[in-house]
Amino acid sequence: MKIAKFEASDDVSEGGGQPVAGVPAGRAPRHVAIIMDGNGRWATSHGLPRFEGHRRGVEAVRRTIAAAIDLGVEALTVFSFSSENWTRPEGEVDELMGLLKLFIRKDLQDLHARNVRVRILGEGHPRDGEIQAMLRETEALTGGNTGLTLAVAFNYGSQNEIARAARALAREVAAGRLSPEEITPARLAGALDTAGLPPLDLVIRTSGEQRLSNFLLWQAAYAELVFLPVLWPDFDRGWFERALQEFAGRERRFGGLDAAGRS
Ligand code: IPE
Ligand code: IPE
Ligand code: MG
Repeated sequence: MKIAKFEASDDVSEGGGQPVAGVPAGRAPRHVAIIMDGNGRWATSHGLPRFEGHRRGVEAVRRTIAAAIDLGVEALTVFSFSSENWTRPEGEVDELMGLLKLFIRKDLQDLHARNVRVRILGEGHPRDGEIQAMLRETEALTGGNTGLTLAVAFNYGSQNEIARAARALAREVAAGRLSPEEITPARLAGALDTAGLPPLDLVIRTSGEQRLSNFLLWQAAYAELVFLPVLWPDFDRGWFERALQEFAGRERRFGGLDAAGRS
């Protein structure tokens, strides 16, 4: 398989990765999730159709995966299409599906050669049978890899994910295999699409919008949120490093006191 199209070095990182200025050892996030927003505005500001923004957005995804591998991030989750994005005009949805199919065919297979393990978050949808099948195939193909875990959120909505998890646990209770008292936060987390991924440390959203848009609501309980004033097609390794530096400077308390015992 070809790996030449990737800009990053060919080293497969299994933790560690290249040091980032301003990020001391031990202050790097294990799991980063990105809301890749602003493709449409990027296109409009360049006098181009929205499709061109999405096409350039795919290039930014490639750069970001390469950077995540280089920087030694353990898990990267990307929001590729939300369960609410089906409400967009038919033509734009078709274009996005076309780009995603191309990405799965061209890139996800190549990522296997880079030791990347692909995970899928989200629910099947009647309009995306082919994509779901391709994604599941890639998930199975790369399941034994030990490098970066790349979680692709497709037809994903966090409220739907939580409801599905609750339904799965309710079925266990109805079948007499679980008691209601056994439904703890840990048990519910284990029934979410993200089961087995490292705890979410950092959520990055591009385009300046400051909301979660139904993305990883449960998982982001104690994640740090970084909102960047860059439109997704312009995102690159430099912006990624900036987000990691911002994260490294944050004091995470998890409801307790800081390292010096101050509130
Ligand atoms: C993100 O860019 C891509 C998807 C949501 C699929 P947008 O298409 O939301 O771009 P803006 O927000 O309209 O600029
Ligand atoms: C969130 O962006 C979804 C993805 C990036 C895939 P949106 O552009 O759909 O979010 P809103 O509509 O601005 O909240
Ligand atoms: Mg948007």
